[in-house]
Amino acid sequence: MNIVLIGPPGAGKGTQSKLLSERFSIPQISTGDILRANVREKTPMGLRAKDYMERGILVPDELVVEMVVDRLSQDDCARGFILDGFPRNVKQAEALEETLDKSGKKIDAVIGFEVERRELVRRLSGRRVCRKCGATYHIIFNPPINIDVCDRCGDELYQRDDDKEETIEARLKVYEEETLPVVEYYKKRGLYKGVNGIGSVDEINEAIVKAIG
Ligand code: AP5
Repeated sequence: MNIVLIGPPGAGKGTQSKLLSERFSIPQISTGDILRANVREKTPMGLRAKDYMERGILVPDELVVEMVVDRLSQDDCARGFILDGFPRNVKQAEALEETLDKSGKKIDAVIGFEVERRELVRRLSGRRVCRKCGATYHIIFNPPINIDVCDRCGDELYQRDDDKEETIEARLKVYEEETLPVVEYYKKRGLYKGVNGIGSVDEINEAIVKAIG
């Protein structure tokens, strides 16, 4: 099963794709996570991506597309995958279609998260992430037992650089201008299924599973 999750920053793509990955035993491919790992490790890709990410704008297509094409060619994607944060513009959507065509694959469903702007800002500004295992928390909606300590592995929680208010605004603008056209792209192909992104994590997960069918 090949699934794309699309939605504005903070909509819950990462939270839900982890659950779907466990449920369907297929990998979650988060371009944001892969890029952040490259930034942390100071790889050539990370060094190029860092400035774009800090400004909340898209990393150039040639870097991201190559990274995703490479990831999709790995063995664990043979039974399916969940793309979280890709494609982010129409060029990336076309590149994905072309790549999948070449290997006789296709997208089965595109799940779109619908969440109002005020809620997105609340979710992003309260998000905390584990430095070691990547578990995601929210200081109000899903707090850790001990402040700034990961329940799962005991490592330190931190706030992402791009979760500061001014960068959040830039990211939301990029979503409206560059990613919303991707929603139209998939609607035209009959693949888009919108899901209400407000509610408990479990409720939203059930709605997604139903939409996937
Ligand atoms: P990326 O890491 O992909 O960030 P994003 O799309 O902005 O999405 P987020 O990770 O912020 O949010 P999410 O929807 O995953 O929400 P989450 O589940 O964490 O990208 C970062 C940057 O990398 C980009 O700006 C760009 O520079 C670059 N990049 C990445 N992909 C790229 C691409 N394809 N092309 C070019 N550049 C690219 O939830 C958010 C918070 O809400 C958490 O605290 C969570 O606990 C909480 N929460 C989740 N669900 C609920 C709920 N139901 N109720 C209450 N709270 C909830």
